[in-house]
Amino acid sequence: MKFFIDTANVDEIREASNLGLLDGVTTNPSLLAKEAGRGKSAREMLEEICEIVDGPISAEVTATDYEGMVSQGRDLASIHNNIVVKVPITAAGLQATRSLKKEEIRVNVTLIFSATQALLAAKAGATFVSPFVGRIDDVSNNGMEIVEQIIQIFDNYAIESEVLVASVRHPMHVVEAALMGADIATIPFKVITQLIKHPLTDVGLERFLKDWEKANL
Ligand code: E4P
Repeated sequence: MKFFIDTANVDEIREASNLGLLDGVTTNPSLLAKEAGRGKSAREMLEEICEIVDGPISAEVTATDYEGMVSQGRDLASIHNNIVVKVPITAAGLQATRSLKKEEIRVNVTLIFSATQALLAAKAGATFVSPFVGRIDDVSNNGMEIVEQIIQIFDNYAIESEVLVASVRHPMHVVEAALMGADIATIPFKVITQLIKHPLTDVGLERFLKDWEKANL
């Protein structure tokens, strides 16, 4: 399973990238807005991210009409070859996905909350489909169940769109995504650090070092 990081914070991206774990990055308007204090435009932030990670970097359109989405999508794609244009799953978004795909611009269809939305996105030519598991859990449904359905449907028809598990909130989302065979999980920095940690590792390491010191070998 590929690991993307779900942030626009370059310090987090650099740190995760140094671990050798990163296959890509996802941003969205809220994540970019969080970094607004750094005095850089969204375009400059995306350029910087593309310099750090050599993999798909999702950048989202903010237009909601077809023409606006296509025009913003072209503009975002001109930033770097690794940019993937993120488009919401709406009627205009599906139409824009088809047009951008024809221009060989890769699209990540986002804000997916059902298996049917994922199927439509794939039919429109999405390279990635992003079900938001955490936000589904937030409304008392099971986000990972939707992921399971999407994977099954894509397997049934040998659909090539990749399933990108988004809105990951904790390590179990990552474990379940991997068990289900999801192509990618996009993970916040905090959860990446949680994946590394285990209390028994800390205790075990401490004991090894104490024993070593006592023996004075
Ligand atoms: C990534 O593509 C999504 O924009 C992101 O995972 C949303 O996560 P959130 O529900 O924690 O905001």
